[in-house]
Amino acid sequence: MLIDTHCHLDFKDFGPDRYEVIRRAKEGGISAIINVGSSMEGTRRSVELAEQNDFIYAAAGIHPHDADSVTEEDLTSFTKSLDNKKVVAVGEIGLDYYRNLSSKENQKKLFVRLLKEAKERDLPLIIHNRDAHKDTLDILKTDIGSSIKGVMHCFSGDGVFLKKCMDMGMFISFTCNLTFKNASRLRELAKTVPMERLLLETDAPFLAPQVFRGKRNEPAYLRYLAEEVARLKGLGLDEVARITTDNAKGLFGLC
Ligand code: NI
Repeated sequence: MLIDTHCHLDFKDFGPDRYEVIRRAKEGGISAIINVGSSMEGTRRSVELAEQNDFIYAAAGIHPHDADSVTEEDLTSFTKSLDNKKVVAVGEIGLDYYRNLSSKENQKKLFVRLLKEAKERDLPLIIHNRDAHKDTLDILKTDIGSSIKGVMHCFSGDGVFLKKCMDMGMFISFTCNLTFKNASRLRELAKTVPMERLLLETDAPFLAPQVFRGKRNEPAYLRYLAEEVARLKGLGLDEVARITTDNAKGLFGLC
C-alpha cells in the first residue's frame, strides 16, 4: 500500500472521469491520497473531495502564482478551511521565481501570511519552491525556525540545497519525474536521501511516469515511482511502501 502525498484531483483534467480515477487508485493499492489545494477554489474543492472519500485528505493552500490577486476574503475562507478535520497540512505554499506569475514581493508576503496560520495550528507544510531556494529557506527560518515540520515537494535543486532542507528536518518528496529518461541527476540526488526522509507523490495531473510521458498522471501510477525508488535504493517494493507510508502517516498524522 502506498500514499500519494500530493495530487490535484480537483483539476478540470479529471472532470470527465474523476471517480474512475479514484477507484483505480484504491484498486491499485493507494491507501491514502492528499489532495493539495493550489488556489482558494482548489482548497475548497480539495476539502469537498476529502469529505466525500474516506481515504482522501486535503491540504489547504494558495499557490504563489495567485499572490497578486489574493484578497482578504480569500484569506478569511482559507483560515476557516483549516478547522476542517480532513485538512492535514498547509500547502502548497511557497515561492515560484521560475514562472513569476505574481510579483516576488507579493509572493513573499503571502507565503509569510500562510506560514503564520500553519504555525498557530502546528500543521505540517507542503512547500512549493522553484528557483527560489534562498528566499524560501530564509523565510522558513525567520518565520518558523530552523526545524521545519514539512516537505519540500517535487524536489528540484542541487545537493547543497538538498542538504540544507534535510538539515532543517524537512521531508523530501519526488514525483514520477524521477522515472524520466533524462533524470539521472535527480536520481543521483534521490539516492542520497535517507529512506526515513522520503515521501512519494504524483503531483497528478502533472509529470506522468516515463511509460506514460506526456499523458495525464494519476495516483494509481505512483507505483512506477515506488518501483524506481526501490531500484535506486536496492530495496524491495514492500520495504519502500512500508517506510514511505509510515513517513507520510507520521508527518500528516493520518490514521
Ligand atoms: Ni502540486
